Amino acid sequence: MSNDSRYAGKVAVVTGGASGIGAAIVRRLVAEGASVVAGDIDSAKLEALGEQLGERFTGLTTDVTSEHAVEAMVVTAVERYGKLDVGFNVAGGGGGAMLVEQTEADWRRVLDLCLTGVFFAMKHEARQIVDQGGGAIVNVASLNSRVPMFGGSAYCAAKAGVAMLTQCGALEFGEQGIRVNAVSPGLTETPLTAGLQALPGATDAYLERIPLKRVGQPEDMAAAALFLGSDDATYVSGTNLFVDGAWETTTYPDLRPFLAQLSRA
Ligand SMILES: NC(=O)c1ccc[n+]([C@@H]2O[C@H](COP(=O)([O-])OP(=O)(O)OC[C@H]3O[C@@H](n4cnc5c(N)ncnc54)[C@H](O)[C@@H]3O)[C@@H](O)[C@H]2O)c1
Repeated sequence: MSNDSRYAGKVAVVTGGASGIGAAIVRRLVAEGASVVAGDIDSAKLEALGEQLGERFTGLTTDVTSEHAVEAMVVTAVERYGKLDVGFNVAGGGGGAMLVEQTEADWRRVLDLCLTGVFFAMKHEARQIVDQGGGAIVNVASLNSRVPMFGGSAYCAAKAGVAMLTQCGALEFGEQGIRVNAVSPGLTETPLTAGLQALPGATDAYLERIPLKRVGQPEDMAAAALFLGSDDATYVSGTNLFVDGAWETTTYPDLRPFLAQLSRA
């Protein structure tokens, strides 16, 4: 973990900050000097983080599918720490079914959590960030914002929506000095993927498509997110940074056996 002070004196909110990628972002923000309000539905995990992180961390039970709750989280950051510089919108999750079996209730649940929750957060974060003269918003989308998966229509559609919402935010908030970017993780070792990764052969099926030959860690995603939220990225806005071990380079057939034949011909 870096010990530099890019975030010294900054105030951030992190949705989904109790676990996995969100918790890694929270830890690194505090280590780099920020004060952080984390909003999550998992009160017990927030409390445990609070015991480790001290005064510059506030955990607030927050359901991102409620606009009122999201607004309260943002206002808490301003009341407790005086302002808001950066919003990290991480809360999300999967679940789903093949398209023909997808229920309306499950479709709406995933869209509400992964897409509407990000919309609520961007709206209320931007209002506060403007008041203190600019800052940044970083949304966590997914490799599935561009790559479809079986049984993931709601999740993939929501994440593609997050990628577009990111661009709309960059367009609308730019004049007010707010940069908006997304991080799109590939497979990352968190509680969200633990069940899948425990299935025999599942991780290997992913690794076949990952030239870097390892699963991503929450800290890999936190490093990218903190870069985008920091003054190291002052001219970066509207981008969707894929942190996926080069997954998309493997969408083309492996031509090496054919190239060898051609060179012999
Ligand atoms: N792990 C991966 O492989 C992966 C890959 C691509 C994208 N992502 C995305 O990264 C983000 C974080 O996922 P993770 O892997 O760290 O999962 P995680 O399950 O470890 O963390 C997700 C957090 O979101 C919280 N949450 C769930 N519903 C919520 C709600 N309604 N309101 C507030 N908080 C809520 C959970 O309590 C949890 O703390 C998600 O948006 C996920 O879609 C993860």
